[in-house]
Amino acid sequence: MHVAEPTRAARTLLTRAVLEDLDRAVLCWLATVDQDMVPNVSPKEIFCPYGDDVLLIANIASPGSMRNIARNPQVCVSFIDVFRQRGFKLIGRATVIPRDAPDFTKLAEGLLRKAGADFPVHDAIHVRIERVERIWAPSYRLFPDRSVEERMQSAYAAYGVRPSSPDERV
Ligand SMILES: Cc1cc2nc3c(=O)[nH]c(=O)nc-3n(C[C@H](O)[C@H](O)[C@H](O)COP(=O)(O)O)c2cc1C
Repeated sequence: MHVAEPTRAARTLLTRAVLEDLDRAVLCWLATVDQDMVPNVSPKEIFCPYGDDVLLIANIASPGSMRNIARNPQVCVSFIDVFRQRGFKLIGRATVIPRDAPDFTKLAEGLLRKAGADFPVHDAIHVRIERVERIWAPSYRLFPDRSVEERMQSAYAAYGVRPSSPDERV
C-alpha cells in the first residue's frame, strides 16, 4: 500500500487552536458505525496530527473500530482539554495503514514514539479530516467573562486536582 506524504492543504484544518487542544488532550474518542448504523465510541490514547488535515490513531486493541471502518470509513473523533474545558470534533474519513505498508515507520513515527516499546501499534488509522467543530463547555456561554485561569481553577476544584507543573497552575 502506498503511504501518502503529509498533505499541505489549501486550507489548514489542523489550526493552531486545534493543535493546542489536541496536544493537551489525554484521550481522543473515536466514533464509528457498524453495518446496522449502530454507533461505537472508544477511547484512544495514542494519536497525533499529520500534515494539515490528517489525524493518526494507533490501532493497538480496537477490533470493533477496525471492523466498522472497513465497512464505513465515516468517523468522528472528539477530544477535549479537560482543564480548559474545550476541545473539538474532527469529522472525516478513515483508512487503515497496516504495519507492513511501505513507509509505515515514517508515517507512524509520532504514534510509535508515543506508544513506546510497551504498546504494539498494529495499524495506523489515518483520518482525513473534512470538517472541524468546536466543543465548548456550557460554562463558556453561561459565564463568558471568566478567564481561562478561572476556568482552570474551577476544573481543578471540581475534579480534585492539584497541578504540579507551574505551566498548568496558571
Ligand atoms: C485510557 C485508554 C487508552 C486507550 N488507548 C488506546 C489506543 O491508543 N489504541 C487502541 O487501539 N486502543 C486503546 N484503548 C483500548 C480500546 O479503547 C478498547 O480496547 C476498546 O474496547 C476498543 O473498542 P473498539 O474495538 O470498539 O474500538 C485504550 C483504552 C483506554 C481505557
